[in-house]
Amino acid sequence: MNLKTQASVTVNKIETSRINEVDFNNLSFGDEFTDYMFECDYRAGTWSNPTIKPFGPLSISPAAKVFHYGQAVFEGMKAYKDVDGKIWLFRPEDNFNRINHSSKRLAIPAFPKNFFFEGLETMLKLDSDWIKPGMGNSLYIRPFVIATQCGVSASPSDEYKFMILFSPAQAYYTGDVKVVIAEHFSRSADGGVGAAKAAGNYAAQFYPTNLAKEKGFHQVIWTDSNEHNYLEEAGTMNVFFRVNDTLLTAPISDRILDGITRRSVIALAKRDGIKVEERRVSISEITEASINGTLKEIFGTGTAAVISPVSDFSYKEQVYHLPKSTEGFATRFKKELTEIQYNQIEDTFGWRYLVE
Ligand SMILES: Cc1ncc(COP(=O)(O)O)c(C=O)c1O
Repeated sequence: MNLKTQASVTVNKIETSRINEVDFNNLSFGDEFTDYMFECDYRAGTWSNPTIKPFGPLSISPAAKVFHYGQAVFEGMKAYKDVDGKIWLFRPEDNFNRINHSSKRLAIPAFPKNFFFEGLETMLKLDSDWIKPGMGNSLYIRPFVIATQCGVSASPSDEYKFMILFSPAQAYYTGDVKVVIAEHFSRSADGGVGAAKAAGNYAAQFYPTNLAKEKGFHQVIWTDSNEHNYLEEAGTMNVFFRVNDTLLTAPISDRILDGITRRSVIALAKRDGIKVEERRVSISEITEASINGTLKEIFGTGTAAVISPVSDFSYKEQVYHLPKSTEGFATRFKKELTEIQYNQIEDTFGWRYLVE
């Protein structure tokens, strides 16, 4: 599969690489950026002049609409290097489709597929040395779009900037993840923007998440905004519950991000004959399962950490502990997904994408 067509991306080369300034053994997630960035502007009804240039500051008017109305969307994906030095992406077409889905909800024009793949793949080759081989090492890829038109009238922008940044990443060990179930705050609502990767969705989570952190927890599991009775997803992860040997997860709706890791875990589970129920999961069902011992695992799924097991959850000031296990579904799916991503096992699903 080749998703590129010749889109003639202009490349402005760096003079010297900054790679030697970076300590690849002590990376903090999302803090370092590679030598290049990709940029493409939308003006007069078209996206034009896709360019790769040295990473650096932008010059944007303070009146740009992104600063006033938050018209911005983004994506998160990763590139991996195998032992032969080949660069791989994981289901990149899904990220491409999702950013345009998010853009549509925010009244942002769709970005062309040939520009996306030509820009991404050309830049991956230019920044190839920043992708270290070895399980756990990767390059986090951040495509995003911002509204750049000057003007403080509350209406969609006529001008946009699409960009891609790369940030080298190491294995992301979340350790024991302790979560609080949301009883008051909401991440999204019916008919809202929860299914889009809209920048503002994340800003809105920071305050309630800080309150959870003050109590010693790491993340919030969001619940339905109507009744706060049904479990939906976490800050940047979809959530699965294993009750006995059945996996439960909230169905995709306009309140939930349609996670690519979620989709992949469901496919692996179904292939293995594991019963998966995509349906509303009530809080009482999970607290009862925890008390009667049938709740075996809770784990989050997302690009950054692949799979993060939850060790404890809190609801109405009561803390519930999950059994500790290294043999569960979380461990098994994480192992298979990462082996597919690093080209270590056969990819029967056709998820891996070679950058050539
Ligand atoms: C709100 C939210 N849910 C779920 C996910 C997981 O999605 P994916 O598996 O595509 O990374 C993310 C991360 O992108 C997210 O931001």
